[in-house]
Order: sequence, then C-alpha cells, then structure tokens
Amino acid sequence: MYLGILFSVLVYLLSDAVPVKRQAYFNSTAYLPCPFTKAQNISPSELVVFWQDRKKSVLYEHYLGAEKLDNVNAKYLGRTSFDRDNQALRLHNVQINDTGFYDCFIQQKTPTGSIILQQWETELSVIANFSEPEIEEAQNETRNTGINLTCSSKQGYPKPTKMYFLITNSTNEYGDNMQISQDNVTKLFSVSVSLSLSFPDEVYNMTIVCILETESMNISSKPYNMVFSQPHFGGKTWIQTVLPSSALCCLILLPVYKVVKKCWKKQKQLGRPWRKTCESEQDSGADESINLEEVEPQLHQQNQMQSGDGEGLRKELKSASLK
Ligand SMILES: *[C@@H]1O[C@H](CO)[C@@H](O)[C@H](O)[C@H]1NC(C)=O
Ligand SMILES: *[C@@H]1O[C@H](CO)[C@@H](O)[C@H](O)[C@H]1NC(C)=O
Ligand SMILES: *[C@@H]1O[C@H](CO)[C@@H](O)[C@H](O)[C@H]1NC(C)=O
Ligand SMILES: *[C@@H]1O[C@H](CO)[C@@H](O)[C@H](O)[C@H]1NC(C)=O
Ligand SMILES: *[C@@H]1O[C@H](CO)[C@@H](O)[C@H](O)[C@H]1NC(C)=O
Ligand SMILES: *[C@@H]1O[C@H](CO)[C@@H](O)[C@H](O)[C@H]1NC(C)=O
Repeated sequence: MYLGILFSVLVYLLSDAVPVKRQAYFNSTAYLPCPFTKAQNISPSELVVFWQDRKKSVLYEHYLGAEKLDNVNAKYLGRTSFDRDNQALRLHNVQINDTGFYDCFIQQKTPTGSIILQQWETELSVIANFSEPEIEEAQNETRNTGINLTCSSKQGYPKPTKMYFLITNSTNEYGDNMQISQDNVTKLFSVSVSLSLSFPDEVYNMTIVCILETESMNISSKPYNMVFSQPHFGGKTWIQTVLPSSALCCLILLPVYKVVKKCWKKQKQLGRPWRKTCESEQDSGADESINLEEVEPQLHQQNQMQSGDGEGLRKELKSASLK
C-alpha cells in the first residue's frame, strides 16, 4: 500500500511533463515515443524499456538489449515493432479501440534492484477520414414530382457534427433526417441526410452540394447538377409538340371537310334531308348512286301500271260508270 503510493509519487516526479498527444489514422501505424534522454550513457544491456496501456497490459518490452514477449498482452502480439532510430514504438493496424493513454518506462537494472529513470506518457487519438459525401437521386423523378436526394458518407471517426445540402446561390442549409450509424466492430460511423424539394417555378436547373462537418474539417461532395427541360409538354418544347399534332389534324380533317362541303352543297341544291344525301354520298362516293329505299316504291307502281294496262283502264271506267 505505502509502497504503491510511494511508487506512484516517484513515477509522477520522474514523469516528463504532460502527455504527448499523437494522432493516427484508422488502420495505419501509430508512434508512441520514448526518447532515452536520461539513459544515453547507460548500456542497453542494463535497460528495461516497456510500454503499457492504462489497464497495465504490456504492448512491448525490450529487456536488457533484447525483445521479450513473455509479458506482452495477447491483443498486442504481432502488432508492434520498435523504431530504434526514433526511439518510439510502432503500433500497427490501429483501431478505434486503441484510443487512449500509453506509458513508456525506462528502467535501469542494477545489482541492487531497478530504478525508473524515465517515464513518457502518450495520448493517442485515432481518426478516420469520412468518404467523400455522395449525392444520390431517388429513381424516376420528374420536375413535377419534386426531387428526393440522399447524401451519404462512410467510415469516419469521430462522430460528425453536421451534414446538409447547399443549393445554388442560397446560403441556407437544407436537409433533414440525418442518420448516424456505427459499425459495432470497427466503431466507425456512417452518416446520411436526405432532401425533399419541389422545383420552384421558372427554375430548370440547380446545383447542389452536400457538406459533412466534423470537428476537424468540412468535406464537400462533388457538385450535383439537376437539369430539367424547359416547358415541357412531356419534355418537348411547345413548337415540337404543336407542329406534328397540327399536321396530323390536317391529314385527318381534310377528307372529312371535303365530304361535309359536298353534302352541304347538295343539300342546298336538292332540299333533301341532310342525313340521307350524305349517306348516299359516303356509301358509293358517286353522285349517280341510287337510294333503293326511296326508289323502290316508285318502281313497284310503274310495274303495276305497265303490266295491267287494260285491266286498270277497265276498272277506272267501271268506277266511272257506277257513279
Ligand atoms: C486496413 O488495411 C488493409 C491493408 O493495409 C486493408 O486490406 C483493409 O481493407 C483495411 N481495412 C479497413 C477497414 O479499411
Ligand atoms: C485525411 O484527410 C486529410 C485532409 O483532407 C488529408 O490531408 C489526409 O491525407 C487524409 N488521410 C487519409 C488517410 O486519407
Ligand atoms: C422506375 O421506373 C422503372 C421503369 O421505368 C421501374 O421498373 C422501376 O420500378 C421504377 N422505380 C421506382 C422506384 O419507382
Ligand atoms: C420524395 O419524398 C417524399 C417524402 O419523403 C415522398 O412523399 C415522395 O413520394 C418522394 N418522391 C419520389 C419521386 O420518390
Ligand atoms: C446564381 O447566381 C448567378 C450569378 O450570381 C446567376 O447568373 C444565376 O442565374 C443564379 N442562378 C439561380 C438559379 O438563381
Ligand atoms: C452488430 O450489430 C448487429 C445489429 O445490432 C448484430 O446483428 C450483429 O451481430 C453485431 N455484430 C457483432 C460482431 O457484434
């Protein structure tokens, strides 16, 4: 107990100033320095140098001139190497979980015991650059339905502060429903934000960028251009639409007009019912055509007269004589 406190005080006194802050990118190599400033004249064969984390797990030990793995914690095995030139320990393949404080001790072993010559403390932070934000458009949009955009960025650390859209010439920040998710293995964050927007009248193109803000920097997406065609009869200009359809109209209406005109003329000449005149016109397409319905009774009458000339005459006479 007393020994522990004494040791702590001693270590505190020996400790060289405040922790050195070091930053490393995720999955890269971190350097944990430990310069032998007070041990320069001492032979390496008398020195014990080791690094440990705040849980007292040993990362690496250099024992009397040689690497010693006995005390190294399993989670650091194979992940470290000693950089003699820089008197620092390399921690490879840094993970977010490696964030924290590390102590390096330089001990001198003498026949009478060990003395701590020096202690270095390093505060390691691990960061990961978010991927460049990417804007994606929901499918099947037209100018009329409005636009739905999603912006997303992946695998960054620490947690981002803000993500939003900027639209041409506007300083307003747009977007909502910012979603942050964290990978439960790597601890990296992914983030997305969405934008639902109707196109203002008279605006046919917009440039949109998406910004991701983190504590240390802002990352911008590539500009996203939205262009819609000008008015807009199914995406064509009015002249493209009106011309073909009016040509089609002429093609259909011309023969109809001709027939109607003819009918009208004839009706005026004959004073016949409109419908019948036109039917005969349309059926045969010739002026000489005969409407059977109309003509049949006349024929019948004629036949009668011709066949029974004598009889008819007699009947008439008979009736005349009876009177
Ligand atoms: C870490 O780096 C290695 C190669 O150095 C690479 O294969 C791996 O994909 C990286 N992992 C991540 C999560 O970036
Ligand atoms: C992270 O981003 C910074 C700033 O853009 C850049 O200088 C650095 O090289 C990037 N690092 C990695 C590992 O991508
Ligand atoms: C988009 O349109 C295509 C065909 O035009 C259709 O197959 C697809 O399901 C549509 N997608 C959505 C999200 O409506
Ligand atoms: C855009 O989003 C809004 C609300 O989120 C939704 O009502 C609308 O149907 C979406 N439009 C398209 C084309 O996806
Ligand atoms: C944006 O501003 C530029 C010049 O400042 C102008 O030419 C352009 O028409 C503006 N665009 C919109 C969509 O307002
Ligand atoms: C990560 O989280 C998901 C969902 O919460 C879970 O299904 C999965 O088992 C987790 N993976 C690990 C390695 O914890």
